[in-house]
Amino acid sequence: MRRIQVIHGPNLDLLGTREPGIYGATTLEEIDAALAEAAKERGAEVECFQSNHEGVLVDRIHAAIGWADGILINPGGLTHTSVVLRDALAATGMPVVEVHLSNVFAREAFRHTSYVSGIALGLVAGFGARSYTLGLAALLDALET
Ligand code: DQA
Repeated sequence: MRRIQVIHGPNLDLLGTREPGIYGATTLEEIDAALAEAAKERGAEVECFQSNHEGVLVDRIHAAIGWADGILINPGGLTHTSVVLRDALAATGMPVVEVHLSNVFAREAFRHTSYVSGIALGLVAGFGARSYTLGLAALLDALET
């Protein structure tokens, strides 16, 4: 059975009420439930984790080594700032798929740079909560080929 570590970065705990015009009305709990369901349909399993703290996210990424087969991550604002997060993801040697609810390239210029994309298999952005299930499907497809 394929196992996927799902990582949600800072402020994503507020989904549902956080800038709904940009991020939609779906809560993080609902996203995690949709991922669990989608994984189950593919005979896979997800473990979902959110933190507002960079070091805690790094610890969880390290803890996925030896357990998970791949990582699905929305790094939130750390996407645009964190060498540390990128290095942690690269250190796992696992395939990584980056997701964003919003189309970061259609937003402010500072969101056009991602420290994670360079070590990711690919990126899904702009489809709201569906970015996560699309990203999961792409990650599972990659693991199966
Ligand atoms: C985000 C985009 C980031 O720029 C932002 O800082 C977030 C959410 C997204 O999912 O669209 O926190 O990662």
